[in-house]
Order: sequence, then C-alpha cells, then structure tokens
Amino acid sequence: MTQFHSELCERLGIRYPIFGFSHSVDVCVEIAKAGGYPVIGLAREMPEEVPEILRSIDARLNGMPYGIDLMLPSNVPEAGNINDLQQSLPGGHVDFVDGLRKRFDVKPPTKPSFFTTQVRSKALFDEQIEQVLASSATGIATAIGLSEDFISRAKALGKTTFSLVGSVRHAQKALAMGVDVLVAQGYDAGGHTGPVGTMSLVPQIIAVAGSAPVLAAGGIGTGQQVLASLAMGAQGAWLGTLWMGAKENHTSPALLNRLIASRSEDTTITYAHSGKPCRVVRSAWIDAWNEETSPAPLPMPQQQALIGDVFTSIHEHNQSELIYEAAGQSIFAIRSETTVAAQFQTLVTEMEEAMRRLRRMV
Ligand SMILES: Cc1cc2nc3c(=O)[nH]c(=O)nc-3n(C[C@H](O)[C@H](O)[C@H](O)COP(=O)(O)O)c2cc1C
Repeated sequence: MTQFHSELCERLGIRYPIFGFSHSVDVCVEIAKAGGYPVIGLAREMPEEVPEILRSIDARLNGMPYGIDLMLPSNVPEAGNINDLQQSLPGGHVDFVDGLRKRFDVKPPTKPSFFTTQVRSKALFDEQIEQVLASSATGIATAIGLSEDFISRAKALGKTTFSLVGSVRHAQKALAMGVDVLVAQGYDAGGHTGPVGTMSLVPQIIAVAGSAPVLAAGGIGTGQQVLASLAMGAQGAWLGTLWMGAKENHTSPALLNRLIASRSEDTTITYAHSGKPCRVVRSAWIDAWNEETSPAPLPMPQQQALIGDVFTSIHEHNQSELIYEAAGQSIFAIRSETTVAAQFQTLVTEMEEAMRRLRRMV
C-alpha cells in the first residue's frame, strides 16, 4: 500500500494525512483506528457532559493521538443566561418564529440541549478552555475566533495548535498569535465559513504560512481531492461532512436520508442557524427564512436563543421536512450509510488510484 507521509503526520504520529472533524466520539475512535487524526468538536456539547466525553475518548483511544475543537467567537457577552436573553429578543422575531412553529407543527423538545440551555459567552469559553487544556488531547483547534492565551498555554503543554482560517488576513492573525497549523477552510465547507472557495483559498494561505503546515478543508469528500490538496502544498485534508454518512455518527434517519438525497447545490449559506454565515443542507425550515416577508436573522448569540428549541426539536422528533444540519458541498460524497472504516478505505484507494493516474501522465 502506498504511504502518503507529510511532516505533520510524523509530528502527530498518524499514518494518513486525513484529519476528521466530528462531534461523535464513536466516529473519532474509528478515524484514529484507521490511521487518521480525529478532532472532536466540543462547541455544542453541554458543559456538564464534557468531562464524560473526554474520559470516554481517552479510554477508548488508549494513547492514540487526537485533537479537540472549540469555537471562540468574539463579540459575545461576558456571561449569559438563556432565559434573560430570550426575554430580550425583539418581539417581531419572536412572533415570526412562533408563526413558523405553528405552520410547521414544531413540537417542543422533551430534553435540554446546548442550544436550549447555553449562551455562547466568554464565561462559557473560559470553562471549555480549562477542560480542554486539562485533557490529554495532543492538538487543539479553534474556529471563528482566536485566543492568544489559550494558544500559548496549549503550546506550553506540548499540544499542537490548529486554527481554522477563511482568509489571508485571518491566517496572518493566527500566525502572529503563534498558531502551529493553519486549516484553510473554504466557502465549500460545512459549518461557519468565509467567502473564498477552498481551491482558491489553499494556495493563498500556503503563500503566507511560511514554515507552518497548512491543511485543506471544505468540500473534500474523495481521495482524489485529498491528493489534490497535497499537490497544492497542503500537508493533509480536514473533512467534516463525510463522517455524517457513517453509522458511527448515529445520524437520525430523517437527516441521513436528506444527506444521501442531497447534492452540493442543496447546501446553502444561512445566517438563520447561528447568526453567522454557516453552510447547511437546505430544508423547509431554512427556506422559510429566505421568504420575502421573513426578517433578517439576529446576530450570535441571539439567533440561537431564538431558534435553539426548534433545532433541538426537529432532530429529536426526526422531522423530515424541516431537518437540517451544517453540511458542506462535500455532501455529494455521502451516497449511502456506511462505516468510517469503509470511508477511510475508499479515500486511501482513491488517493492511490489518482497517484497512479498522475504517474502515467508524467
Ligand atoms: C455538522 C458539522 C458541525 C461542525 N461544527 C464545527 C465546530 O463546532 N467547530 C469547527 O471548528 N468546525 C466545525 N465544522 C466544520 C469542520 O471543522 C470542517 O471545517 C468542515 O466540515 C470541512 O468541510 P466539509 O464539511 O465539506 O468536509 C462543522 C462541520 C459540520 C459538517
């Protein structure tokens, strides 16, 4: 089997230059076993559940390397109480969402979730940062915002620091703060994203990165694309959406069906999920925010306080017309439910085939 090494692979102790972002411990365990670098997202986990998630990932990975990701947007309140925030929301928006709840028959969620109980605030981030620093993760990644203190403390503990960047300006800021690895995440990506497509972004980030390794992210779902990322000078590819097609992700049936049925053009950038631009797979709920009479979504964290119960409910009640999730243009690569091991095998086989094809062309 062809080996694809990069310096970063050596540094992190992984076999393949494939980085997998996921909110699922089960997915992360399988990515690690397959020879990739799993990064567990903790930005939407309930604070009281984080210790158990970390204990479980540590026990199951048993020394295999992994990273943890946090979202640290600036412009959030110092502290926040969801009930107070909900009381302060503009009446017009509250009425609009009430109307949508009636129109689509959205039932209240029966269980609390991050989206119904938490407010993204500096106090929450401080708590998350301490939990992550105390973990045995070998890498920490941050998206949307940067914290110089978090980066330097993580580095002092020997952790490799990653920053998701969507523009050259953002990359320069991350480098100035001492970030080790830049994840050039393009417009094609699932989740919060900037305006530049992956294919154009990656070379621009590599051009300013100096000796810092760069990973390509956004819209990548095949081994040919991973190889193309290496050809552009990236030291690996960072994938998020693909793993939602793996049974280890425990994706609800309604969402899995939507992901399988969707193509790249069925994803869209919306502010209606979080108040910041976020690529999601479209649904009737997302489309309702684009109607002529719909108000503009509120900023973060108000928008989440406005619709958090709906997001929680449509997942809990498996509402197929409304269900949506962050998803990238890479959605095309989810064709049926599979396993992480099978996805990994396909990625590696496709990289090898693409390499042979290239060799024949030289
Ligand atoms: C469901 C989902 C949730 C995500 N949540 C986060 C997050 O909390 N933090 C983060 O840094 N990136 C998050 N991302 C973005 C990924 O880290 C990654 O950059 C992106 O998925 C790459 O593009 P792709 O989805 O086309 O593979 C999320 C992506 C998805 C699909």
